[in-house]
Amino acid sequence: MQRRGVTVWFTGLSGAGKTTITRAVAEELRSQECQLEILDGDVVRENLTKGLGFSKEDRDINIRRIGFVANLLTRNGVIVLVSAISPYRQVREEVRQTIGDFVEVFVNAPLATCEERDVKGLYKRARAGEIKQFTGIDDPYEPPLNPEVECRTDLEELSESIAKVMNKLEELGYLP
Ligand code: PPS
Ligand code: MG
Repeated sequence: MQRRGVTVWFTGLSGAGKTTITRAVAEELRSQECQLEILDGDVVRENLTKGLGFSKEDRDINIRRIGFVANLLTRNGVIVLVSAISPYRQVREEVRQTIGDFVEVFVNAPLATCEERDVKGLYKRARAGEIKQFTGIDDPYEPPLNPEVECRTDLEELSESIAKVMNKLEELGYLP
């Protein structure tokens, strides 16, 4: 019998830890022999949504396309891990309604922490005005009001974040 799929949607600022947690959860799921796929904003923007920028319109298109693919996979029993800033609440809600089997994970670290980490040097460039419409600097981020999971990556270890996500998936009956 095919298992019930689910989309696990990681939202949060650049540098909050979305990609890191997503990869770690994927590894954990693989070890439990779950069928999974990752859709990461940074990767998707190289193909599926290539050419899109960071205006509200383009971000919304990006998220809707990711949501479309996530929905196809989810209804075929796959656990889909989406990692995208997805700054706008309304489109996240729209995708949630469409997919149904949807778990929202708020990857939360204060802007100051993300900026301090500045893994890709993008905050520095945004502050210097070299990148416009950078989330958290001169572009909005609307935090989830009722996420199924919140990971405070400035306060907890990666292992704790992984456990929170896995426990929620277990609790909701998505794990074998
Ligand atoms: S969105 O808002 O959901 O459409 O963004 P997403 O597809 O997740 O892409 C975010 C990654 O793009 C890089 N980047 C920017 N992020 C935010 N604002 C601006 N202006 C921007 N320009 C480039 C950045 O590497 C993001 O990756 P993460 O993994 O979030 O750091
Ligand atoms: Mg990332």
